[in-house]
Amino acid sequence: MDKFVIEGGAKLHGTIPTSGSKNSALPALAAALLTEDKVVLKRVPRVRDIRTMERLLQDIGSYITVENEQVTLETPRIVSPEAPYELVKTMRASSLVLGPLVARAGRARVSLPGGCAIGARPIDQHLSGLQLLGAQISQEHGYVEAAAPNGLKGTRIVFDRITVTGTEDILMAAVLANGETVIENAAREPEVVDLANLLLKMGAKITGAGTSVIRIEGVAKLHGAEHEIIADRIEAGTYVLAAAITGGDVTITGCVADHLGALTAKLAKAGVRILQPDDTTIHVLPDGAIHAADMSTEEYPGFATDLQAQYMALMTQANGISIVKETIFENRFMHAQELMRMGANIRLDGREAIVAGRSNLSGAGVIASDLRASASLVLAALVAKGETVIDRVYHIDRGYENIEGKLAAVGANIRRVE
Ligand code: EPZ
Repeated sequence: MDKFVIEGGAKLHGTIPTSGSKNSALPALAAALLTEDKVVLKRVPRVRDIRTMERLLQDIGSYITVENEQVTLETPRIVSPEAPYELVKTMRASSLVLGPLVARAGRARVSLPGGCAIGARPIDQHLSGLQLLGAQISQEHGYVEAAAPNGLKGTRIVFDRITVTGTEDILMAAVLANGETVIENAAREPEVVDLANLLLKMGAKITGAGTSVIRIEGVAKLHGAEHEIIADRIEAGTYVLAAAITGGDVTITGCVADHLGALTAKLAKAGVRILQPDDTTIHVLPDGAIHAADMSTEEYPGFATDLQAQYMALMTQANGISIVKETIFENRFMHAQELMRMGANIRLDGREAIVAGRSNLSGAGVIASDLRASASLVLAALVAKGETVIDRVYHIDRGYENIEGKLAAVGANIRRVE
């Protein structure tokens, strides 16, 4: 298993380019199941979750070619409408094939995801949405089966709680349903908008993506399309925080600055100097001390849960006490224990972490527990005294494209060892 060895203390300096969004590319790949034509996706990050999704789609019946960051998919027919346990247990986003499979093939069999490192994460909202669209849902042997042999029928769906992949799954099911579907309390994340834009290019009729009410007028058939995936706002945000924690001077290019509004506003409160020379660039400048600033995660456009761990790492270096509140997932503080092993002063109280700074962190052996938790350990290691060894970096490989190369290019002392 690979490890990262990081020697702390270097201030980052230079430019970091942003990759395409993993969480946008995953539903976009699944959307290719909705047509027998060719779908060409550009700027698909070469990370492990994407490879897992490609493997799943190949088993289902897609022919896939990958050239650099361009993925071409063609699915003349659905060979096996199934997402097996072996894949779902490694990547919960496998459930994104549920909607497209029921819509195209009238049938899907998908393993139910179990618990995971950041919380229970059920898919009940995906299932009740499909049921309202007319699918028959049954569960047996750890699998959920959805059947709609005569097609889906447009309806009104009000989500009990906001769900990103749930909105995407139902959107993909509804585009081929008969009649109009209205999704209320829909997720407003940029990844949902990106998926809707791809579906529009494929011939779908959708309005309201990016708001909490999405209207879909079903069509009989979708066709092929070419689409470039949006920039990864979480990757970009992670590098903004890496620059801030080291007091570096770093320009993050190729991002959508607008998608990072909650982060940059919070950092301004914490005293981090940030410039936005244009819509796709964020420049972080060194500006003395960082102040403690409370933060609570929210659905978009609020502060992303996927940046909470990295923000907590920054708060260990802020003067004062901050409260970091996690409202989306019930168990997303695994990094706190590891940060404490590095010398951070954090007290956990339910969904709140009380972080007292500024702590002198020191390098230690730590374990990555999930994707974003691992990123926060990398950030902490960049400012820790001495060497940090991060074990199980396969978690980070799920979602960050060449993180060690990108950080080393701006002066971080980081290397991967086997
Ligand atoms: C997406 O997960 C992202 N994954 C996550 O990214 C992200 O943390 C999360 O949205 C929140 O922003 C992808 O896009 C592939 P949810 P998702 O459904 O869709 C509960 C990363 O690090 N819920 O919006 O699975 C759920 O348990 C990750 O890249 C139900 O109760 O998240 C959670 O508490 C990990 N029933 C909350 O809703 C459901 O049917 C939000 O989850 C669905 C969700």
